[in-house]
Amino acid sequence: MKYKAIRGMEDILPEDIGNWQWIEKTAREILESYGYAEIRTPILEDASIFTRSIGEETDIVTKEMYAFKDKKERKLALRPEGTAPIVRAYVEHSLDNMPFGNKLYYIGPMFRSERPQKGRQRQFHQIGVEAFGSNSPHADAEVIMQLDNMLKSLGLRNYTIDLNSLGCRKDKIKFADELKSYLKDKQNRLCDDCKVRVKKNILRVLDCKKDVCIQVLKNAPNVLSSLCDSCKNSYEKLKACLSSLGIDFKEKKNLVRGLDYYTGTVFEITHASLGSQDAIGAGGRYDDLVKDFGGIDTGAVGYALGMERIIIALGKKEISVKKVLYLATLGDKAKVEGFRIAGKIRSAIPHLTVMTDIKEASLKSQLRFADKSGAKFVLILGDNEISKGIVILRDMSSQKQIEVSIEGVIEELRKYVPKDEGRRTRDGKD
Ligand code: HAM
Repeated sequence: MKYKAIRGMEDILPEDIGNWQWIEKTAREILESYGYAEIRTPILEDASIFTRSIGEETDIVTKEMYAFKDKKERKLALRPEGTAPIVRAYVEHSLDNMPFGNKLYYIGPMFRSERPQKGRQRQFHQIGVEAFGSNSPHADAEVIMQLDNMLKSLGLRNYTIDLNSLGCRKDKIKFADELKSYLKDKQNRLCDDCKVRVKKNILRVLDCKKDVCIQVLKNAPNVLSSLCDSCKNSYEKLKACLSSLGIDFKEKKNLVRGLDYYTGTVFEITHASLGSQDAIGAGGRYDDLVKDFGGIDTGAVGYALGMERIIIALGKKEISVKKVLYLATLGDKAKVEGFRIAGKIRSAIPHLTVMTDIKEASLKSQLRFADKSGAKFVLILGDNEISKGIVILRDMSSQKQIEVSIEGVIEELRKYVPKDEGRRTRDGKD
């Protein structure tokens, strides 16, 4: 019996892992340069943290969340997103008292039982950030600036930052009422999903992509006209700040987001290469959530990027993170001496991958394997070389080989593998 991975949950194979590692490394470097500290929370949580925060009537909770009862009848869920668990941890560990607790980031798998298609999996991965402790629009601006900085460093171009504000909780209620009155005599023209949304989660009607609904909503009230003075001021300040920083954004009045916890600023990053699943990331403010989870009354803003979607948007360029050296050996004595030499090279040049034969393969097969594994260099060592105190260094691209003394091999390799060779950009440039 041959098993397969569960539908919508994909293996990330060694041939693709370079992209993932490079994105994670780049993200970590940038996030840490902005003062974010990493947090890792469990994949399994009490299901109610998601029901309460994302919203009981949202698609994520009603249709997509993997929720189940364990043997003790506790209702658990595989996390569909990262914000609720981070807020749970922030309150549980009083992170507001910690010097590093204000800005947190996470990288890891999330789970939603959606219909799989390109850019939409049931297990997918997010890089997310949550910045706590400020109600100021400057916090939103810094988060968006950091996001823009990260997308550019990842080599992404031609993305769009859509921006909107939903206002505070009071504004949202006021706007939902206005929308309800507007739709009162038009509801029967909406799609079936939106007919349900009107009753359960009316704001979501606004971002329905179906033509019938777009037509009905053509003259719908604008959420921005329902903002109170304070929310309006914050939103204007944010836009002015982003413009001064030269960050391009597009105001999108029907951007509402599918999670109930948002208040104030919301944003979404889209990229044309993704087709219908075009959001590579999204986020916004959630000023009530920490308090709702029993914590202090504090503002918070964050976002999450979908890693699979970033990879699609970047295109299929492979990233070779490390150069490979293959040490081919002949005979037992050379094998042991080879292990010793390989160990010394690994300690001296850690960004070089050093592979040795462990299958007792012939020299010919070892060279074939070296070629297949993309080795740039091969060291050849047999009894003859050991007795002379040398090793043969073959450059695989030019096929030229030279004899190098065993003691001088590290110095020789350094000529070909500069110190920082492991830190490569996507284009392969240092
Ligand atoms: P979200 O919009 O639900 O927001 O997800 C963020 C990103 O995760 C999406 O833009 C998309 O790139 C990716 N994503 C979502 N579902 C899938 C899927 N089924 N397959 C592949 N990628 C997917 C959140 O999750 C919020 N927690 C973001 C946030 C953080 N807001 C404030 N802080």
